[in-house]
Formats: sequence, C-alpha cells, structure tokens
Amino acid sequence: MSDDILTYSSGDNEILSGSCLSVDTEPEILSLRPESMSDYIGQKEVVETLKIAIQAAKQRGEPIDHVLLHGPPGLGKTTLAHIIANETGANLTVTSGPALEKGGDLVGILTHLEEGDILFIDEIHRIPKVVEEFMYPAMEDFAIDFVFDKGVNARSHKYRLKHFVLVGATTRVGLLSSPLRDRFGIFRTLDFYTESDLMIIVSRSADLLKIKIEEDAAYELSRRSRGTPRIVNRLLKRVRDYAQVRGDGIITKKTVQEALALEGVDEKGLTNLDCRYLKTVIEFYNGGPVGVEAIAATLQEESDTLVDVVEPFLLKIGLIMRTSSGRKASEEAYKHLYKNCDRRP
Ligand SMILES: Nc1ncnc2c1ncn2[C@@H]1O[C@H](COP(=O)(O)OP(=O)(O)O)[C@@H](O)[C@H]1O
Ligand SMILES: [Mg+2]
Repeated sequence: MSDDILTYSSGDNEILSGSCLSVDTEPEILSLRPESMSDYIGQKEVVETLKIAIQAAKQRGEPIDHVLLHGPPGLGKTTLAHIIANETGANLTVTSGPALEKGGDLVGILTHLEEGDILFIDEIHRIPKVVEEFMYPAMEDFAIDFVFDKGVNARSHKYRLKHFVLVGATTRVGLLSSPLRDRFGIFRTLDFYTESDLMIIVSRSADLLKIKIEEDAAYELSRRSRGTPRIVNRLLKRVRDYAQVRGDGIITKKTVQEALALEGVDEKGLTNLDCRYLKTVIEFYNGGPVGVEAIAATLQEESDTLVDVVEPFLLKIGLIMRTSSGRKASEEAYKHLYKNCDRRP
C-alpha cells in the first residue's frame, strides 16, 4: 500500500506526521478550513443537497450515497469531504487517484473500512484503469473479487466489504469513464465564488489569523482572487506580511493594491501565467482558434495545468472561448492584454 494515505477520525484535527503532506493537508491550511456545513460559505445548492442526503440517511440509519464533487482547484472539494465525515460522525480515509497504482492498493484500503466510513479519493480521474475495475463492484455491491497469482495458479477470492461511502473529487469530470461516474448517487459541480461570498471567507480567515482588515481592503482582495477561496486565503497571508513589514499591520485597500502588484496579480486577479497564455493566443496564434496542446507547447507548460488551473477562470470571465476548433480570445482579452498585461515588469 502506498504511504500517502492518511486516516483521520472525525473531529480530530491532528494529522499523522509524514513527509508526504499535500497542499490539502498542510496544518496551516487546515486551520482555515471550515469543519461544519454551517461554516462552509456559498455553494448553496451543493450544501443543501448534501445536508438533505445526510439527514435522510441518518433518519434511515444508513450511510449516504457515494458523492462525486467536480470543480477547479481550490473551490472546496476536499473541505466538503472532511465536512461530510464530521457531520456523519464517520472516519475519513484520504487517498488520491495517482497514489492507487495497483488493484491491491485499493483492496487494502477497502477491506479496512468500517460501516459508514468515508473514503475520499482526490483526483479520481487519475485512477489507473486496472484499479478502476475494482471500484465498480465495490461501489455497487460492496464486494470485490481479488485474483491472486497468474495463469494456472490463479485463484480468486471474494471479499465482502462494509457499507462505506466513496467521496470522489475531480477537476476533470470529462476524463471519468461513464461506468464510474454513473455509480455516484450524488454528483455536484462547484462553481467559482461570488465576491460577497469571498468577502465572508476572507473576514473569517482574518479573524482566525487575528489580522485587522478594512472592509474595502477585503473587497479588493475578494475581487482579485479568481473566485477561489484557496487563492483569497493565500493572498491574505501575503498581504498580511506586507502590511506587517511595510505598514502598521492593519490591512487597507492601498496595502492590498501594493502587495498584489508585488505578487504579480492584476486588476482582474490574473497572474503572469494567465497573461502569458493570453499573449500566446493573441500574438502567436492571431487570437485563435488554437488547440490547447499548441498553446502548452509554446508556453512550455503542461497542458493539464492550462486546462485545470488557467482556463476555467478565463472562460468564466469571458476572456477566452472554447470552440470546436480550439481556444479563441475574446475582444475583452485583447483589451485586457494591452491595458494590463503589457504593463507588467
Ligand atoms: N466554502 C468555503 N468556505 C470557506 N472556506 C473555504 C470554502 N471552500 C474552500 N475554502 C478554503 O479554501 C481552501 C481550499 O479548499 P479545498 O477544499 O482544499 O479545495 P479543493 O479540494 O477543491 O482544491 C480550504 O483550505 C479552505 O480554507
Ligand atoms: Mg483538494
């Protein structure tokens, strides 16, 4: 079994120490992570769906259906998995698609789950095909057939599993095979957060970190955080450092503007990479349409990074469009490129 599997018990925030903590499990970030549905800001429909499912399952005395959460990074998928475990009082086991290399890895985890336990698989679209085949009967019938040895020595053993709950998270639901997708009873997509939701999140985080932030500063920060809680929290920490060293510790709108200029975050919240992306589409490929692989090659970036991290927000704010023949820059993108990007140092 690979070692980047973490087991938590509900309500227990202590993390097993290890060198393999991913960004999701860094203690510092966990402290800003809401632990109950009532602290989870925004995403009203998703929260409502989950609350109803949890309550109904509790009344019937059975575990909830398997849950699939989809959406760009930093919008709160991992957070929701923790909350589901907290609210159902279940143990949470955390792993990720790429960590499950062999069928045996998954079987090892599944056979240790108790009734109602939550298994969270992050980046579930990256599960290898051989492992995925074990998922189907496990999810549907709570049983797995495991084959030992090969050829004439092959023996199969059927394991009965406890009724666990699978929570899957993915940034790319399109890469999930439909048999896997169809086995989730609850499937919800998280959307980018509104500025007012981000303002609540940033105020809550500022309280937790004991930072003083003025209201127009919180607004400025929220406006420039690409609709993403993880980004608003990250920028808040950078602005805090700036205010501490260059100011009197209180975060004003001016502090935010200066600190974000230093961070390379512009008026719309775009970073250097976003600008390089726009510049490539507009100047190198005449505004498109151009395939993402070509853009990735020109930028010398992974196309996965572009599709998962860069494009969702550019699409959301209408700077690029996805057509059947590739990505196209909008008129707004030209304006933004020449007004903001070109003035970068
Ligand atoms: N709805 C929310 N309310 C408050 N904070 C949130 C919310 N969603 C996410 N966050 C914050 O953003 C961080 C990143 O969220 P996370 O669940 O790790 O995103 P994902 O798993 O989708 O990449 C969390 O640590 C938490 O501090
Ligand atoms: Mg996550």
